[in-house]
Amino acid sequence: MSVESYVRKITTHVLYEMKLRGEKIAMLTAYDYSMAKIVESAGIDVILVGDSASNVMAGFSTTLPITLDAMIYHAASVVRATSKALVVVDMPFGTYQGNSKEALHSAIRIMKETGAHAIKMEGGLEIKESVQRILSAGIPVMGHLGLTPQSIYKFGTYTVRARQEEEAKKLIEDAKLLEELGCFSIVLEKIPANLAGIVANTVKIPVIGIGAGAGVDGQVLVLHDMLGITQEFSPRFLRRYHNISEEIKGAVKNYISDVKSRDFPNEREQY
Ligand code: KIV
Repeated sequence: MSVESYVRKITTHVLYEMKLRGEKIAMLTAYDYSMAKIVESAGIDVILVGDSASNVMAGFSTTLPITLDAMIYHAASVVRATSKALVVVDMPFGTYQGNSKEALHSAIRIMKETGAHAIKMEGGLEIKESVQRILSAGIPVMGHLGLTPQSIYKFGTYTVRARQEEEAKKLIEDAKLLEELGCFSIVLEKIPANLAGIVANTVKIPVIGIGAGAGVDGQVLVLHDMLGITQEFSPRFLRRYHNISEEIKGAVKNYISDVKSRDFPNEREQY
């Protein structure tokens, strides 16, 4: 690889510089080669192989069931499609919460078997040991605070988090802790915009928001939500940039009709 192409790659350090100069970071999820190729070619900064794959790719109602093997399969496909974007992979539920040695083992599997550049973990103080052990192995870690979907059965709802002072204080403390430990970035999900702005101004590392307002250093959305592939999920923070499911449905209907009417294939479409 030439020095020039190396320099153009997005690294954790590049994200830090973007925050310093006030350039917003654009992050989207992707779970497969074809979509990642399109997202990368559009110039995205960071691709998150989110455990939202559990919902949008596998059809589960929560992110809890997806396995480490499945995340590795998705992440390796995404990495094969990318040359510039930073690829971050979610550690799935159950692979880091209990035992920090197991957490490190899971993170090493992700890095070795996918070629991704970093991992993401949900939580603050309660996962400190796992974060420390993974960071000490030289693996970049992105934190995730606020609404943490892997804890859905503890909270019981997907409503806005940290509206109350006590929870807001803990979130700020957790953000500071993640920075101190050495995380390169933090995702804040579904919290009041003013609180997210305070966090972004308190820590030096980039803060990426989803449903966390405009006062943060970057934004992330689930690709299938912003493209209108998923239809049933429409929180206030979601801006839909397309209604692809209608376009796909239209194309499939046209294909069915062409096959049934014997219009497809025509003479030029055969050998
Ligand atoms: O899994 C995911 O897609 C995520 C984003 C919502 C940040 O964690």
